[in-house]
Amino acid sequence: MIASRPGAAAPWRDPDAEPYLRIEKVTKRFGTVVALDAVSLGIHRGELFALLGGSGSGKTTLLRVLAGFAEPDEGQVVLDGQDLAGIPPYARPVNMMFQSYALFPHMNAAQNIAFGLRQDGLKRAEIADRVAQILALVQMQGMEKRRPHELSGGQKQRVALARCLVKRPKLLLLDEPLAALDKNLREATQFELVGIQETLGTTFVIVTHDQEEAMTMATRLAVMEKGALAQVGTPAEVYEYPASRFVAEFLGTANLFEGVLREPGPGGAVVDVAGLGITVESDTAPAAARGRRVFVAVRPEKIEIAKAPAGAAHGTNRLVGTVRDIAYYGDFFMYLVEVPGQGIVRASEPATRRAGDATITWGDRVVLQWRAFASRVLTQ
Ligand SMILES: Nc1ncnc2c1ncn2[C@@H]1O[C@H](COP(=O)(O)OP(=O)(O)OP(=O)(O)O)[C@@H](O)[C@H]1O
Ligand SMILES: [Mg+2]
Repeated sequence: MIASRPGAAAPWRDPDAEPYLRIEKVTKRFGTVVALDAVSLGIHRGELFALLGGSGSGKTTLLRVLAGFAEPDEGQVVLDGQDLAGIPPYARPVNMMFQSYALFPHMNAAQNIAFGLRQDGLKRAEIADRVAQILALVQMQGMEKRRPHELSGGQKQRVALARCLVKRPKLLLLDEPLAALDKNLREATQFELVGIQETLGTTFVIVTHDQEEAMTMATRLAVMEKGALAQVGTPAEVYEYPASRFVAEFLGTANLFEGVLREPGPGGAVVDVAGLGITVESDTAPAAARGRRVFVAVRPEKIEIAKAPAGAAHGTNRLVGTVRDIAYYGDFFMYLVEVPGQGIVRASEPATRRAGDATITWGDRVVLQWRAFASRVLTQ
C-alpha cells in the first residue's frame, strides 16, 4: 500500500521549501531519563506525519512538547513562523487528540464538539454552522444528540476528532487515535482519517505503534529510538532502505546476515558472509571501507523459495536449507528455513494456492535466492 497518496506533493524533497513545523534540537529530560535527545525535524504543511517507535522511545513526550503540555529543556519549536516557547497549550494553534478521547460524558456529541468554540466566545450561529459542517465531514449527522455512552468506539473516535478539527488548528496531534478500534473499523477509519485530512489540508502528526497503519497513512514517518530519530523518510524509503538493523527489524521483518565488506563501490557492494560460506551482492553500497564488519538485511518477501535440486549448494545470494515450519497468514505463507550456521531464515510467498495444496512442505530441502536489489548492506 505504498502508493496510497498518488500525486501528493513532496515538499521535503525541495531543499528550499521551508517546513511549516520546525523542531530544532529539542531535548527533554525527566530526572536522569533523556526522553528527547536533541531532536530536529521539519514537517511540511498538509503532511500526515507518523511517529513510530518502541515503548518509552519518546513519542508521547514529543507530542506533549508540541502541544505545550511539556516545555523542552533545550531547543525550539516553530510553527508557521511563530516560536511557541512560553505559549500555553490553550493559546497554541495546536490541538491534541488523546487515546482515551476524553469526551465530556454529560454532553451530547454536538455539545462536545461545540465546547471549544463556545469557550472562544464565537457567535451561536457560527458555532452551529461549524458544528454541522464538521459532523458531516466525520459522517455523524443524525447522531449529534447522543451522549458518549450511546456511541460505539468508532463513533466516539469521530466525535473526538471533530472536536479537535472544528477549532481549525494549524497542527493536529493524535496519540494512538485508532488503538481502541477493532481491525476492520480501524482500516475503514484509517482511510476516512486520510480523506478528512486531505480535505481540510490540516497538518497531522500521529503516533502509532501499528506499523501498517503508519505505512498506509503517512506521507512520511520517523522511527524513534531512545529519544532520538533513528530514521525519517517516506514509508517506502524507510521500508526499502532502512538505515540500521534497528529500523530494518522494527519496520517489517528482516533476515540479517553478518559479514565483511569485500568490495564497496558506486556500482554496489559484495559482502562475504563467512559463517555461511556465501557471498552477498547488493546493488547499493554503504559508506564504509573494505574489510569492515557489516550486516546484510534481506526481507522475507524478496526471497524466492523453491525445492532444492540434487547437489544444490550455497552461492551468491543463495542458501540451501530445510523447511522447519510453515506459518499460514491467510494472505501469505511464511517459511522458516533452517540454514546450517545461520539458524532460521524466513522467506514468504503470497498465498496464491490454498493452504494444504502447497508444493513445499515440512522437512523439504529448499533453495533460497534473492536478487542484488534485495540486499541492504548496513554498517550499524
Ligand atoms: N512525566 C514524566 N516523568 C518522568 N518520566 C517520564 C515522564 N513522561 C515520560 N517519561 C519517561 O520518558 C521516556 C519517554 O516516554 P514517552 O511517554 O514519551 O514514551 P512513548 O514513546 O510515548 O512510549 P509508549 O509507546 O509506551 O506510549 C520514558 O522513559 C518515560 O518513562
Ligand atoms: Mg506514548
